[in-house]
Formats: sequence, C-alpha cells, structure tokens
Amino acid sequence: MKLNGEQRRTIWPSADARSVRIIDQTKLPHALEIVELRTVDDAARAIKTMQVRGAPLIGATAAYGLALALRGDATDAGLVNAVAHLAEQRPTAINLKWALGIVRDGVAALPPHQRAARALDIAAEICDEDVENCRLIGMHGRELIRAIADKKRGGAVNILTHCNAGWLACVDWGTATSPIYHAHDAGIAVHVFVDETRPRNQGAALTAFELGQHGVAHTLIVDNAGGHLMQHGEVDIVITGADRVTAEGDAANKIGTYLKALAAHDNGIPFYVAMPSSTIDWTLGDGSTIPIEDRGADEVLYVHGLRENGSLGRVLIAPPNTPACNPSFDVTPARLITGLITERGVAPASRDGLLSLYPERARQRA
Ligand code: MRU
Repeated sequence: MKLNGEQRRTIWPSADARSVRIIDQTKLPHALEIVELRTVDDAARAIKTMQVRGAPLIGATAAYGLALALRGDATDAGLVNAVAHLAEQRPTAINLKWALGIVRDGVAALPPHQRAARALDIAAEICDEDVENCRLIGMHGRELIRAIADKKRGGAVNILTHCNAGWLACVDWGTATSPIYHAHDAGIAVHVFVDETRPRNQGAALTAFELGQHGVAHTLIVDNAGGHLMQHGEVDIVITGADRVTAEGDAANKIGTYLKALAAHDNGIPFYVAMPSSTIDWTLGDGSTIPIEDRGADEVLYVHGLRENGSLGRVLIAPPNTPACNPSFDVTPARLITGLITERGVAPASRDGLLSLYPERARQRA
C-alpha cells in the first residue's frame, strides 16, 4: 500500500518485538495516528473499537494479540483464556477465529517457555500469507476488469464497491480493491464508485482515502445511489469483500451489500466477491446461520467527522433517544453472486465452484 508515497503495511511488530503497531482507523482520513499494542487487552480493544477492522486485519491483529498474551501467561489455561477473549471481540468475520486457531494449534504442543516466540513468528507468517493472497486476488480480478475494458473499447471501467475491503482492511493490497490497484497499475483505465457505507462510513473515510493515495479515479456516492447508477449504465462491475463465505458460496459483508447485489442482478451487472480462503467457513452451508454483529444505536444516531472548526467529533442526526437498530452485516445469497475471486482463481459461488479451487476440502469431508 502507498501511504503518503511510502510502501507500508497496516500492522507490524516493533523492532524489539515486545509490541505491535497499527494505524488507528477511527481517526482516518483526517489524522494518521500510529498506536502501539503492548498487551492482549490492547489488541482486543483495538479490534472491538475498530481501530483495526476488516476481516483479514482483524485476524492478523488477533494473531499478534495472542502472541502478546503468551508473553505474560503461556500456560495452557492462559492460552485458552486469551483465545476466548480475543475471539469474542467481533462475531461475523471468520478470519478472527481462523487466525486464532492457526496460532493456538501452532504453539499448543510446545513447552510454555517457547510459545510466545513461536506465536510471534506465526502471526508474521499469517500477515505475509495475507499479503500474497491479496496480491493473487488482484492478479485474477484484474483480468475480469481487463475483459470489460477490452469489450468497452474506450472509457474507464466503472467499478462499484461497498464498505472498505481495501488495504486498510487487510495487511496490504485489499481484497475488492486489489483487482482495482492491479488494473490501474497495468494501465487499464478504471473509475470507482465508492459507497459511503453508513453508519460508520468506511467507504467515505477509508476507501476514498486509500484510492486517493494510490491515484485511482473515484467518486463518492451515497449508499442509495448505486441502484440508480446501475439502471443508467454507469456501473460495469461490482466488486465487494466478505467477512465470511459459506461452503455453498453465500457471502456475509457490510450491511447494504445485499441490496447492491439485488440491483446488480436486476440490471445484468456482474457482481463479484473477492476474498482469501481464510474467509471461507467450511463448516457452514446456508448463510442465514452466520452470526450478524449488532453494533448498537449510537452509530446510527451520530455521524463522526471533521467539524468546521477543525476538531474531530460527532454530531447527532436524529431526535435524541430515537430508537434505532444497527445490524452491521448482511448475507448475499450465492445465486446473486457472479463469481468469487480468491487467491487460487475465480470460481462460481457454489460448493462445486469452491471445491474446484480447494479440492483438498472435498477429501477432508469424505
Ligand atoms: O465492520 P468492518 O469495517 O470490519 O467491515 C468490513 C467489511 O465489511 C469488509 O468489506 C470485509 O471485512 C472485507 S475485508 C477485505
């Protein structure tokens, strides 16, 4: 990722490996603040308060958080408690539990005094793997964009994305944005419609920020504009990320994704979900069983931003104490998804499609 022209990642260990550093995403795009996580509680809080967010980055932070926990208490009980504490911070993105499982399984058989160092190495490996997987997603997705560009013969390919499934949601590159960055870097003209993504506005605050940093043409739209733009031929392809994809290809992503998929379907516009295999929950078939996070009424009642006096803060946009509900994710059924873009290639959103890319999962099931 490019941040003020510099190549950076979203999470990295300190030089003495006693802490981990993150970008505080609650302050973006108005302030770039680096936060140091020294304890498992720091890591848990960063996930809960969304200083870090996005499925792969939540997983990476949890992995480092477990390593920090084991520096203090590397007993079997310490390991179990830290995994449980970190896992409960956010319910929908499966990457959180996936990453914790990898670290736990990688250290459980070791004597306690070796566990923290090994956990730190595994967390670094999880990060490296995420960077490579997101890069590969970008290479595969770029070809979908190139095919549209070739057909259009002139003019930019118009891509609509929802929420932030960019490098800020991962360790680098992003999932939905990686095809966009790779297409842009390959000289394919692209333009991105960025949904604001109420209530937390990750599209406005984060996706618009990172596309700008990379020099990709983009336009911010209100969440309700996507269907209208699709009806008027302004959108060539929709690409979103996912927080959990079931073995049958149903995809949970930020609230509002389902409505974009419906509009894309009605208008014959390809709708792709980009995600690494760490986002697949092979234990679930039907997406209606995915736990949906409820983040509380305040996020609906208040909007955060930069005030005209230059201070960061929030403003109330409804009568005080208005009842509000805030489901944070929805599930797009596989039938509305044109394809899944993974690190191993593009597949139909179905069990057969996923198994064609991950045949080892069929063997495990048999
Ligand atoms: O609530 P958030 O900001 O963690 O939600 C993020 C999303 O919904 C992303 O689209 C998803 O995690 C994909 S991340 C590459």
